[in-house]
Amino acid sequence: MSNVVGAMSVPVMGPPRRKEPEAGALPGSMEPPWATLVQEALDDLYAPCPQATMTARLCALTKLGDMPAEAAERADRRLHDALVRPVRYLVEAGGARLRPRLLLAAIDLLGGDAARYGPLAAAMELMHTGSLIVDDVQDGATLRRGRAPSHAVFGQATALNAGTAAYFTFDHALRSTLPEDAALRAAVTETCLGVLRSAHAGQGLDLEGHRAEMDAAVAAGCGREVQHLVRLTHRLKSGAPVRACMETAALLAGAGADVQAALGAFGEAVGVSYQIIDDVLDMDGVVRGGTATKRAGEDLFNGKVTMPMAHAVDLLPQARMTRLWNGLRDGRAGRRRVAKAAQVLRGCGALEASRTEAFTRLRCEWERVEDLIEDSPKARALWTLADQAVSRSRSA
Ligand code: IPE
Ligand code: MG
Ligand code: MG
Repeated sequence: MSNVVGAMSVPVMGPPRRKEPEAGALPGSMEPPWATLVQEALDDLYAPCPQATMTARLCALTKLGDMPAEAAERADRRLHDALVRPVRYLVEAGGARLRPRLLLAAIDLLGGDAARYGPLAAAMELMHTGSLIVDDVQDGATLRRGRAPSHAVFGQATALNAGTAAYFTFDHALRSTLPEDAALRAAVTETCLGVLRSAHAGQGLDLEGHRAEMDAAVAAGCGREVQHLVRLTHRLKSGAPVRACMETAALLAGAGADVQAALGAFGEAVGVSYQIIDDVLDMDGVVRGGTATKRAGEDLFNGKVTMPMAHAVDLLPQARMTRLWNGLRDGRAGRRRVAKAAQVLRGCGALEASRTEAFTRLRCEWERVEDLIEDSPKARALWTLADQAVSRSRSA
């Protein structure tokens, strides 16, 4: 299958579909020039060249002690290489900037001043980028956004440290953008810290691989429990960061508790649905401009239980499912076996079941948001952004 959207049989709610933009492009003219706003804020938080003010910020020092100017400059360069370059390397490789764009679109929708929050949006992107760098080490990835992953270029130890340091970019962004309102600052800080806790919990579950639960599911011929576990993992590792963007937008715009809850749940659905489609796209890899951006079959090579695998338990005859799982579970399958497994998963309807789940979840949560907010171009812009992000095709 070459195009997820084309193969979808699920009717899509909301405004009529437009032509899909290229990955990373803004969805038509509905989105204000936030790409520039975010890029400028990214360049300010994580500048392309060593800078004294930024270094001091990275070290949580007001200045580099009593060092002579020359030594301080050398330290700026060192710290830039150690903390900023491995992250900028991946930021510069592209990416859809989904989280910042959703944050700003939601603030705008709720009547807040989105233009003021570029630094916070940029921090959300840097936190996400940091998590990808760490994830690529943990998954043994060989390709990210069409490039060698950060750890392959900067070394594993440096990449891990730089990726982790990027988790702590939100506090400065928060201080520099939020009004002097202690309760608001505390609420947004707590939201950002909550994401870090959730995402690490989700990653913990993900790394474990759900092998024991899958063994039990295959033996029982019932995928329900392992599907729940995969859903929980996706909610924590991928849903929570987008939920936080939506909750933060509601907090900053002073929205009511009901709108905050509905938008938060919608954000979680965006993250989970995006991750489910990521599981589906893993079968064939993702190609952009004729170049692979991710290695095909990485999850299958790693023997991971993703959503299509969990759905397959209910779709394949038990003996076939047992053979499929036994061939993958130890993470030692070669290319031919992985290609065959992808074929079996497609043939039994597991990819289609995963896609249906992703889009049903997304539409359902958006309907709850629609019950609380007026239809408007800004509401449609938020929906379009989320829908297009989840609908990525293999060749997007
Ligand atoms: C990584 O999850 C994304 C995070 C939430 C850190 P995966 O390992 O499943 O996704 P890709 O395929 O590497 O992006
Ligand atoms: Mg990964
Ligand atoms: Mg992973």
